[in-house]
Amino acid sequence: MAIVYVTRVERFNAAHKLWVEEWSEEKNFSFFGKCANKNWHGHNYRLEVTVKGTPDPQTGFVIDAKKLGDIMKREITEKLDHMNLNLDVDFIKDVQPTSENLTILIWQQLVTHIKGCELASVKLYETENIFAEYKGE
Ligand code: NI
Repeated sequence: MAIVYVTRVERFNAAHKLWVEEWSEEKNFSFFGKCANKNWHGHNYRLEVTVKGTPDPQTGFVIDAKKLGDIMKREITEKLDHMNLNLDVDFIKDVQPTSENLTILIWQQLVTHIKGCELASVKLYETENIFAEYKGE
């Protein structure tokens, strides 16, 4: 049976700061650069969620992309949009809010809500040029 991958894109804006408490200020700034700014900074995040499955013989759908978008909004972007990712979000605690870590946490929030097909990938773009991807491994 043919497996098809379907991707839905949603967006949110959020603030964060990358900082290791155990390090000196100098080391934090040399490692994290502007992302260590003490008074936070923002990103226009782009979230891409991909599911995989076999198209339904009647509808031709792997998933209703509108419904996938609704799940992404309800579970992720409405909770993260205009928030401080270091402080405000209940499922982001005690972890460095990098795109890498966020993809894992977003996967964990979404996986139980995907029905009739399989979650295949969570991609989070922090800028147009940098993204992290988690495939559940
Ligand atoms: Ni940043």
